[in-house]
Amino acid sequence: MSAKALIGIVLAAIVGIPVFILLVIQLATGGMKNNAASPSMTNEAVLARIQPIGLAKLDDSGPPGSRNGKAVYESVCMSCHAAGLAGSPKFADAGAWGARISKGFATLVEHANKGLGAMPAKGGAADLTDDEVARAVAYMGNAVGAKFTEPPVAAGAAAGGKIDPAVKGKEIYDSVCVACHGTGVAGAPKFADKAAWASRLKGGVEEAIKTAAKGINAMPAKGGYTGSDAEFHAAAEYLINASK
Ligand code: HEC
Ligand code: HEC
Repeated sequence: MSAKALIGIVLAAIVGIPVFILLVIQLATGGMKNNAASPSMTNEAVLARIQPIGLAKLDDSGPPGSRNGKAVYESVCMSCHAAGLAGSPKFADAGAWGARISKGFATLVEHANKGLGAMPAKGGAADLTDDEVARAVAYMGNAVGAKFTEPPVAAGAAAGGKIDPAVKGKEIYDSVCVACHGTGVAGAPKFADKAAWASRLKGGVEEAIKTAAKGINAMPAKGGYTGSDAEFHAAAEYLINASK
């Protein structure tokens, strides 16, 4: 690379990065025209604006008790361990973790659950189960080559956190699926129409849901629903249950 090109890149970075940071601040605070006294600049208002990002992340990581190590790490532990805050061993930093890994999985899990030095119990997230913390410890340990096994998610915990077709499924149906299935647009089997559904369910409910998830003829994949597969499944169950 020529010296000229290098100077160009350095200049672009010097000018570009502060401009980028300013733009981000403006986005987060709702623009420069608001001064600190305006209602949109209170801590509560700013928090409310940025909160959906954090909440969405927690939602994605699954119901309490069933979150895996990566999900727990990303929603809780990362806030310190990603950068090595407060003297915490940095994620994937083999040097920082070496001596700790040799304490053994059980000891590390105990320390993470009870707290150690500047680390609060469970990283400050009291709602985590001991197993969820253990999964996060395994995830972090394995990032530096330890061969820890994440405690499995108990079948009960997964079932207990199942998305309820009658609640969440109905909500999705009412906002997305009803557009076609409400009146039978484009040949869609109509809601609660026993005859229209009976022939489709000959291969079983799960088969029909699988077909719908992939999309079939005039029905786009998941009916155009952009949420998780599990949520789509709940909506389909709600729709199908209504025809029984
Ligand atoms: C508020 C910051 C913070 C958060 C959040 C945090 N940690 Fe820590 N963690 C620390 C610090 C600081 C240490 C080093 C403590 C020491 O050795 O004195 C540490 C150490 C550890 C250790 C090593 C313990 C040992 O025996 O050497 C493990 C394992 C660990 N953390 C797991 C986790 C897990 C799992 C989470 C998420 C559930 C988490 N941490 C969240 C700050 C944090
Ligand atoms: C744009 C219109 C449209 C939307 C929105 C839509 N569907 Fe459909 N759906 C159809 C049509 C059309 C069919 C029939 C396709 C065929 O067999 O040709 C169908 C069929 C199905 C079937 C039966 C599949 C089979 O194997 O026969 C299921 C289950 C289903 N939809 C579920 C849903 C769910 C759940 C939603 C909402 C998340 C949804 N659909 C949203 C148009 C739609």
